[in-house]
Amino acid sequence: MAFVERVFSGVQPTGNLHLGNYLGAIVNFVKLQETHNCIYCVVDMHAITMPTDVWGGPAELARNTREVTAAFIAAGIDPKKHIVFNQSQVSGHAELAWIFNCVARMGWLNRMTQFKEKAGKDRENASVGIFDYPVLMAADILLYRATHVPVGDDQKQHLELSRDIAQKFNNDFGDSIRNNGFNDGLYFPLPEPLITGPATRVMSLRDGTKKMSKSDASDNSRINLTDDADTIAQKIRKAKTDPEPLPTEEKGLEPRPEADNLVGIYAALAGVSKQAVLKDFGGGQFSSFKNALVDVCVAKLSPIAAEMKKLVADPGHVDAILVDGANRARAIADETMRRTKDIVGFIRQA
Ligand code: TYM
Repeated sequence: MAFVERVFSGVQPTGNLHLGNYLGAIVNFVKLQETHNCIYCVVDMHAITMPTDVWGGPAELARNTREVTAAFIAAGIDPKKHIVFNQSQVSGHAELAWIFNCVARMGWLNRMTQFKEKAGKDRENASVGIFDYPVLMAADILLYRATHVPVGDDQKQHLELSRDIAQKFNNDFGDSIRNNGFNDGLYFPLPEPLITGPATRVMSLRDGTKKMSKSDASDNSRINLTDDADTIAQKIRKAKTDPEPLPTEEKGLEPRPEADNLVGIYAALAGVSKQAVLKDFGGGQFSSFKNALVDVCVAKLSPIAAEMKKLVADPGHVDAILVDGANRARAIADETMRRTKDIVGFIRQA
């Protein structure tokens, strides 16, 4: 069966939205609006998989949920034409995750590198939720039978797991899927990751071998979407580099993670290729390149920060957007849950 193309993606409301989230994910969310029906979700249920002190407790969670919503809108997502909502308002996410818990295998989840990183050494003390995180992610996507998922490079393994879950569900329930009118025995699509652009993995400004991350203890390691122009300039000027001038060819970036990262960031912000950046700055010193990088970064991010500020100052408006989005998401989700329950054999009110 040819599935209707639909885009789904999510961002966790865990604070410190940064340039990596913007270039690796949100920029692509904005672009895909032109070609697809899109659903963008603030995944508050994923946020609470970490200890409370990491996501900050109830007041902080609500504040961060509104802030991610504001970032979506400020970056150019249209919540009227597409759907923007927070995950916990649509109960189907949790319901479908339970069914998928019975499809996914322990061995699959044991292989997830992000679990290993996040749980750290003290596995006994990790929440069951953080282990189950990728199953909830599969439920998020497949609740809308989404076919395309724009994400950063770090989510690739989770997307592969979503495909495995979809495939195993289709296999395990193949006869029932056919009996329910899907003659090819396929109820869930195998969602495709869209990992595109020159900045699918933005690295820390302090260490070019580490991913830029919300949870890095050093605020200088990342550019936050809420940083003002002076802070952006300071962070870029302090960013780690090496003593050589910039190379003239892309190949010259390979053994130089910090140079590669800064050139990638410039390319993504300016909407050009890395080679084009090197054509302008190759052979020159980092100091003049960094000045140009500050300019392009401030030009792109300042209007977004200003709009975010306006939006979060009006929480009632943001909440109304989320409620409206959730109502429209629920209509799609309820249909999937009805079908899924019939396929599994759960009795329900007709
Ligand atoms: P989160 O909130 O950690 O990240 C949100 C998005 O930002 C991307 N990203 C990056 N991209 C490039 N460079 C970086 N340094 C960088 N850091 C983060 C992430 O890849 C992601 O696309 N598990 C998801 C949230 C989620 C989800 C889903 C995504 C929950 N359900 C369903 C897609 C579909 C996550 O990592 O969020």
